[in-house]
Amino acid sequence: MSIEQLNLQGLRNLAPVAMVPSQRINLISGVNGSGKTSLLEGIHILGMGRSFRTRQLKNAIQRDASQMTLFARLAGEPETTVGVRRFRDQSELELRLKGSKNARLAELAEALPLQLINPDAFRLLEGSPAGRREFLDWGVFHVKHDFLASWRRARRALKHRNALLRRGRIAPQELDVWEHELAGSGELIDQQRREWFTAFLPVFEETLSALLPMEGLTLHYARGWDKTRELADVLAASRPTDLQMGFTQQGPQRADLRIKIHRQPAIEVLSRGQQKLVVSALKLAQGRLLESSVNRHCVYLIDDLPAELDKKHRQRFCELLESMQCQAFITSVEPAALENRWLSGTEVQMFHVKHLEQTETPSGGSSSALSQLMHIGSDHDTSVVRR
Ligand SMILES: Nc1ncnc2c1ncn2[C@@H]1O[C@H](COP(=O)(O)OP(=O)(O)OP(=O)(O)O)[C@@H](O)[C@H]1O
Ligand SMILES: [Mg+2]
Repeated sequence: MSIEQLNLQGLRNLAPVAMVPSQRINLISGVNGSGKTSLLEGIHILGMGRSFRTRQLKNAIQRDASQMTLFARLAGEPETTVGVRRFRDQSELELRLKGSKNARLAELAEALPLQLINPDAFRLLEGSPAGRREFLDWGVFHVKHDFLASWRRARRALKHRNALLRRGRIAPQELDVWEHELAGSGELIDQQRREWFTAFLPVFEETLSALLPMEGLTLHYARGWDKTRELADVLAASRPTDLQMGFTQQGPQRADLRIKIHRQPAIEVLSRGQQKLVVSALKLAQGRLLESSVNRHCVYLIDDLPAELDKKHRQRFCELLESMQCQAFITSVEPAALENRWLSGTEVQMFHVKHLEQTETPSGGSSSALSQLMHIGSDHDTSVVRR
């Protein structure tokens, strides 16, 4: 999937954006604070229903604006459009898919698969398992169609089991129903995740060796409970301690991807640049597996690509990205850091996010915080940048 047309209104400091991006590589430059990350944020909200910068989506609405409206037309037949609207004084998000209201987030995610690589990317290695679980489930969700149903069943069962555990004094048979449901859906989830992981691992290893060969690095899937026992037995055996703790300690909700180097957690050994490359390999491998297994493409949002990467690794990263038939939006303060890295024949479009000149508004204020998205030169001049 790729974006054919993008419209963003009322988002952060951006003046209304109407952009016709390249189906392949889009390079976005501009000075600090001009709105480059905000542009990626807008696409992210369209595909994921949430920002990667704030939990409070309200904060992304332009100051003094009552709403933000984001829209994208996707390439391919039949025509698919996605839209997201958020009013400042309402907490719900309006989601639209192909013009129809009340779309579900999973439908948007399916229509517009996204991968984000930004300067926070190392958190995937460092942070809590939740981020890695989300990464894992992104892959399974896009490749295995019945995964979402098992995942929803497990989430519901877990919610009910935890609510009972928190209540304390309960009859054992009350737990039986939800435990049975959690055990059944949990085993299914594990099976789907394992199958996905088996396909993913060689793609990741190949991607990493193209980016930065790293001896001794291992990636391992941990399912969230003892690998020698069935989940039903584990849940039954852990009832007393689960009751003490007030939550379910083992199950698919505790799955993780463990990344180690010479048996030590990768985050404790690798430099920042190496961490970024490992995370980039993980994310590029997601897209490559999606292409090879279901012939779909994800859109890459790459914020501040040059950060932490030397020239050689930047080049390798660009080559790998280019070898995939995907669309990418790549930001950098300096356009020079991204130019001349692409093979002739690859469609590359450059955009510049530019501050509007200070103008007096009728109220006497100024609109200096607004930015305007402009093409550099004509499409003809900039659509292909040759190495
Ligand atoms: N809700 C909002 N309304 C208006 N402006 C906002 C809002 N939230 C943030 N801003 C401003 O929008 C700009 C956001 O810029 P953004 O982070 O997208 O810039 P950038 O081009 O990525 O910069 P950098 O090169 O430093 O990463 C900042 O100037 C910020 O002060
Ligand atoms: Mg930025």
